[in-house]
Amino acid sequence: MTLLTRGARLVGTGSALPARVVTNAELAQRVDTSDEWIIARTGIRQRHVAGEGETTATLATDAARAALADAWLTPADIDLIILATATPDNTFPATATKVQNALGCNGGVAFDVAAVCSGFLYALATADSLLRTGAARRALVIGAETFSRILDWEDRTTCVLFGDGAGAVVLEAPDTIGDIAADASAPGIIATKLHADGAQHDLLYVDGGPSTTQTVGHVRMKGREVFRHAVVNLADVLAEVLEDADVSVEDIDWVVPHQANARILDATARKLGIAPEKVVVTVDRHANTSAASVPLALDEARRDGRIVTGDLIMLEAMGGGFTWGASLIRV
Ligand code: ACO
Repeated sequence: MTLLTRGARLVGTGSALPARVVTNAELAQRVDTSDEWIIARTGIRQRHVAGEGETTATLATDAARAALADAWLTPADIDLIILATATPDNTFPATATKVQNALGCNGGVAFDVAAVCSGFLYALATADSLLRTGAARRALVIGAETFSRILDWEDRTTCVLFGDGAGAVVLEAPDTIGDIAADASAPGIIATKLHADGAQHDLLYVDGGPSTTQTVGHVRMKGREVFRHAVVNLADVLAEVLEDADVSVEDIDWVVPHQANARILDATARKLGIAPEKVVVTVDRHANTSAASVPLALDEARRDGRIVTGDLIMLEAMGGGFTWGASLIRV
């Protein structure tokens, strides 16, 4: 049997942030907190918050357009859209179909993936699988969120942590279906690992939903416990991917992590022996944008020239569920 081992190639990235910036000082006027506390415990200095008319779909569409332009492609070139979000515009239809319609490329496959902060990793792995089998030729994989709309703005333990935004990548099917010569030197997605542990539901969840309360609900979190699990799970899954790909931690040029908390980024990097200067950090300006944070950080680091063609990059994320995962890519 012919093995399909070569992964999809990343050919473009884009991102979008709402215009409105909310500083820690502004939040301190609403809840009992301070700029000093937020910076010391999380590294966050500000976040972007969606305004009137801005939704998950509009941010996702803007990010998708930017990614297409970066790839020198048009919407007509896209036959698969996977959008990761925990804050869809509507319960249904999928926000991905709104993006498809806004881009004007109706007719292909479009659906949402719900894995909260790990959603982009789950969406990327799903797209990669479909592209490897030949079910699609070019995919837009988007992470987009408007978490500001599911925050309890009276709860200082959560409202200071999150922000809104979107990031997108364009993936292209591997050139040769059936090529078994894939290794870490070839451009494309090399190895991906995903996990979930439904027993941890109560540590991070939204206390509402169509089938339970018929409301949207608000984010609830036991932050300290989430923190502890995050460092262990992320370090473990990174090690798994490295082993799978048969590369060592020193071979990685850039780690592009989910941006939950600067202390989680530091602790995970330390545990694995990754130099802090190899970790892309946006949490100070974006806060935690859930499924959007990895593609937002990836786009920033490509556009400012840090990540260049040929680099080996590791994406990783963990979120509610719990869900977590990592993906190693040669760009
Ligand atoms: N301002 C001031 N004080 C606060 C605030 C605030 N915004 N929030 C909590 N406090 C208080 C608490 O009430 C507590 O007071 P007490 O000692 O009088 O009871 C004190 O600060 C310490 O609270 P802890 O929760 O123990 O603080 P900790 O150092 O753990 O930091 C934080 C809290 C920032 C939430 C941290 O645990 C964290 O980042 N956890 C990870 C959670 C996360 O990032 N989740 C995102 C989704 S999952 C993911 O993306 C990985």
